This record gives sequence, structure tokens and C-alpha cells, in this order.
Amino acid sequence: MTRAAVIGAGTMGNGIAHVFAQHGWEVALVDTVPAALEKAGATIRANLDRQVKKGTIAPDAPAQVLARLKTGTSLEAAAGADLVVEAASENPAVKFALFEQLGRIAAPDAILATNTSSISITEIAARTGRADKVIGMHFMNPVPVMQLVEVIRGHATSDATTAAVMETARALGKVPVEVHDYPGFVSNRLLLPMINEAIFCVMEGVATPEAIDTVMKLGMAHPMGPLALADFIGLDVCLAILDVLHRGLGDDKYRACPLLRRMVAAGELGKKTGRGFYVYPNG
Ligand code: NAI
Repeated sequence: MTRAAVIGAGTMGNGIAHVFAQHGWEVALVDTVPAALEKAGATIRANLDRQVKKGTIAPDAPAQVLARLKTGTSLEAAAGADLVVEAASENPAVKFALFEQLGRIAAPDAILATNTSSISITEIAARTGRADKVIGMHFMNPVPVMQLVEVIRGHATSDATTAAVMETARALGKVPVEVHDYPGFVSNRLLLPMINEAIFCVMEGVATPEAIDTVMKLGMAHPMGPLALADFIGLDVCLAILDVLHRGLGDDKYRACPLLRRMVAAGELGKKTGRGFYVYPNG
């Protein structure tokens, strides 16, 4: 496999396109919003420059990487891909419609992967007419930096598809981990209950956000405390994932903390709105 299509050019899509192109793949980056493609191009150029300055890639590498990257607004670009990685908005209706189209547009042998954080791979795969070739490829943010790829097998994903995607992730310099399709997979099933419990600690006045984060950073060697991380992820995104866990696993231990719900209702979504558990003067 040498040709990838990345669908969605937001936070994750630009990083995924960057990593594939950096490792020699021809990449078609598709987004319905032209401004998103322009922003993604600028981000990729800036990140390549940073890699040159850090000495992780050669000075002539950015031009070669950028030459392998094409952008466009038509999903038809997926027709030329061996592997499609979907990183569009985390909305089931958007993803279901995209995969129904990709099932028709992509080459019959092509693998269709999704970067979803919480939507069922099995439900996405059911739209495509090729459920054996559909898989989760869950990259972490920021993609060029983070090593993990959580590879999620849907109910019908074949061994051959899984092996090909594990191998691809390794060839991109990542460490793939194979998991099965249950709500939140492994990463968010473990991370979100920890964040939620930290929010309960704030609500119950057990300690301040700074104190809670310090306990986890210095006591458990976490690089970032759970509340700072929640602000970084977005409190609306945290709430949506907790609701998926609660509904999907049917256990009240995943019930979102009322304080989280109230902050989201108030528009305090974390770093992106300038206020969450901390205040971000520059938005
Ligand atoms: P984002 O909102 O930054 O970007 C989504 C992009 O998809 C936008 O540019 C939007 O215009 C585009 N889009 C929407 N519908 C489309 C369509 N039908 N065709 C083509 N493009 C379309 O979102 P982000 O954060 O990059 O997330 C993308 C996916 O990655 C989601 O499934 C999310 O759950 C997942 N994810 C996000 C992480 C994060 O830290 N942001 C981490 C891991 C996974």
C-alpha cells in the first residue's frame, strides 16, 4: 500500500496526512471546507519546519513531503487510495454518510479506517458493504508526536485487514495496539473515568484543580494533570465520550459528573473557549 486518502483536514486530519506523506505515501487530503484545507496546509508546513529545526528530518524533506500531498474538496479522490483514513467531525450521521459513499467510491480492495474516538466501528462498517475491510485507526493528538495508534477491530474486521493496518502503523514509526470494538475502546474507557473522578473531586471540594493535577503529575508521574488534560481535549468532547460509555456499557459508574455538564452548558469548554478548569487569557 502506498496511496492514502485522509478525509477531514482538522486537528487530526492534518497530522495524519503529514505522517503518511512524511513516510513516503502519496496522500489525498479531503475536506468539504476549503478554508480547513488551507489551514491544514499551513499547519503541516509549520510542523515540517519545526522538525527540520529539531533535526528530526533533513532540510530538503519538507519540499518532498509537500510534493506528495494533494488537497481537494471531492470525496472522489478516495478512488485512488489503498487506505482511506477518515478523520471528519465526531458525528455519527456524518461518519455513516461518509462510509456509505466510501464503500461505493473506494477501490474494492481498499481498507477503510476511521479515527473516531467513540463511535462504534461495527456500526460504521455496516454502511460500507465491505465490513471485513473496515477498522479503527485511532491516532493521538498531536499526531506527528504521539507514538500510539489504537487499532480497533470491528465485529467483522478480518485478520488480513488488521495485520495490514498494524504493519502500516509500524511503518509510520508508530506503536500500534490491537483492541476490540467496545464503547470508548481502551484509551477513552480508562482516561475519561479518571477525568470524571477528578471533576467529582472539584465538585465535592476535596481539593482545588491545581492540587488535583499536582497529585497526579508528581504522585503518579503523569505528564499532565487530568483537569488540564480535560481542558485541552475540550469539556464538550469529554462529556460526549462519557455519555457514550454510560449508554454503551449501561453502568452508572460512567455517569458524567454534574459539574462537567454544568460547565459545558455554560460554554466553559476548556482551552478552546478560554475557560475551563483553568483560565486561558489568549483563548
Ligand atoms: P476537527 O473539527 O478539528 O476537524 C474535522 C474536519 O472534518 C473539519 O475540518 C470539517 O470541515 C471536516 N468534515 C466534516 N464533515 C466532512 C465530510 N463529510 N467530508 C470531509 N470533511 C468533513 O476534528 P478533529 O479534532 O480533527 O477530530 C476528527 C476525528 O478524530 C473525530 O472523529 C475525533 O473524535 C477524532 N479524534 C480527535 C482527537 C483530538 O484530540 N482532537 C484525538 C483522537 C481522535
